[in-house]
Amino acid sequence: MTSHVQPFQFPKRVPDAPPVGAAQASTRSDVIPLSYGTPSSEAFPYTELQAAATAAILQEGQDALQYAGSLGPTRVQQWITERAALRSIHVGQGRVLVTYGSQQAIDFAARALLEPGDHVWVEAPTYFGAVSTFKTAEAVITSFPLDEDGIQVDQVEAALQEAVQQGKPLPKLLYCMPNFHNPGGVSLSIERREHLARLAYEYNFFILEDDAYAELVYEGQHLPAIYSFGPERVIYLSSFSKIIAPGIRLGWAIGSPTVIRHMNSFFQGSKASVFSQEIVAQLFNHLPFNEHLDQLITRYRASRDVMVTTLREQFGDEVQFQIPDGGFFIWLTFPTNVRTSEFVKTAADLGVSFLPGSQFFVTPEGEQHARLSFSYCNAEDIQQGVIRFAEAYRNYKNRTQQHY
Ligand SMILES: Cc1ncc(COP(=O)(O)O)c(C=O)c1O
Repeated sequence: MTSHVQPFQFPKRVPDAPPVGAAQASTRSDVIPLSYGTPSSEAFPYTELQAAATAAILQEGQDALQYAGSLGPTRVQQWITERAALRSIHVGQGRVLVTYGSQQAIDFAARALLEPGDHVWVEAPTYFGAVSTFKTAEAVITSFPLDEDGIQVDQVEAALQEAVQQGKPLPKLLYCMPNFHNPGGVSLSIERREHLARLAYEYNFFILEDDAYAELVYEGQHLPAIYSFGPERVIYLSSFSKIIAPGIRLGWAIGSPTVIRHMNSFFQGSKASVFSQEIVAQLFNHLPFNEHLDQLITRYRASRDVMVTTLREQFGDEVQFQIPDGGFFIWLTFPTNVRTSEFVKTAADLGVSFLPGSQFFVTPEGEQHARLSFSYCNAEDIQQGVIRFAEAYRNYKNRTQQHY
């Protein structure tokens, strides 16, 4: 047999690069990880999940392990429907699709709505997981800036008007994160939600509303989803990853029956893990959800506060940020000359990881920003991590001899 393996030409749309930030997300045990939005492993409901998995097998038996499942998928959909009502989403028949995490729902939406060369509009900054999906779909991506009230919808409207006047392509899809933005930490105002939904109808595009952090509200109330203002032109997404555990791999989409049917076709006959759904359905018998959520909120709010206090102690006015009312991230703005990617390596050497801002943009920008995540580490590590991060910054400043 010949052992010579010829180079294989993979399709160009298949990414040939490590996931964004992988190099920075060191697995070294001496590096405090402030880079990724990984939920705290200490917050997983281990005992209840064990009981739920046992009950799924003992009570649902063969069905839980077959292709179709038993009552689990229906009960999970009921739960999704009840929680959606908190955001003024009223879910009718055929409007829910349970997926392998919300990342799969982003992929299915992109595949259902986009032809290669179609235009997708995103926020600047935005979530790189979605961007890589849109790139794989061979979309043309354009971004619009955020301010403290979320995506600047006036600019979106101006660009839509200009596209019509100049005969340029309109977007097929606008991707946005209305609550506790990743990485921006901000939330979209109610007026802008309503305005955006109106534009989607007027200019005939879909909004992909990614609400992965929906339940993790530390201050204030649940706001009505963009979906509630435009159920025929919005696909709402959320996930169990941040409230139960990402390893469960269950997320969901809510949309018009037509779009859900199109998205569902990508399952090619199978569906999201019925066993996971049986376990989640059982879990709600063993875990009082509101108490569990209160515990998560108390924990993550305290982690956020430690990070905020330490950032202020370490940086004073030298770095700007808005305190997020929920979610996992603090988005830092350094003086304009700073290039955060230039101290990622020093930070790792000093024992902390973070993501430089440039990784959250589709154009070459964002160097003066950085994202820190307070979700994974305990309070002591967050404090120590921010101290190391500040040391890396001071070291960089001395190295580059710049005065900011
Ligand atoms: C904004 C956003 N959307 C989607 C996801 C993907 O989550 P899931 O685990 O449900 O696929 C993440 C994960 O971090 C996220 O931050």
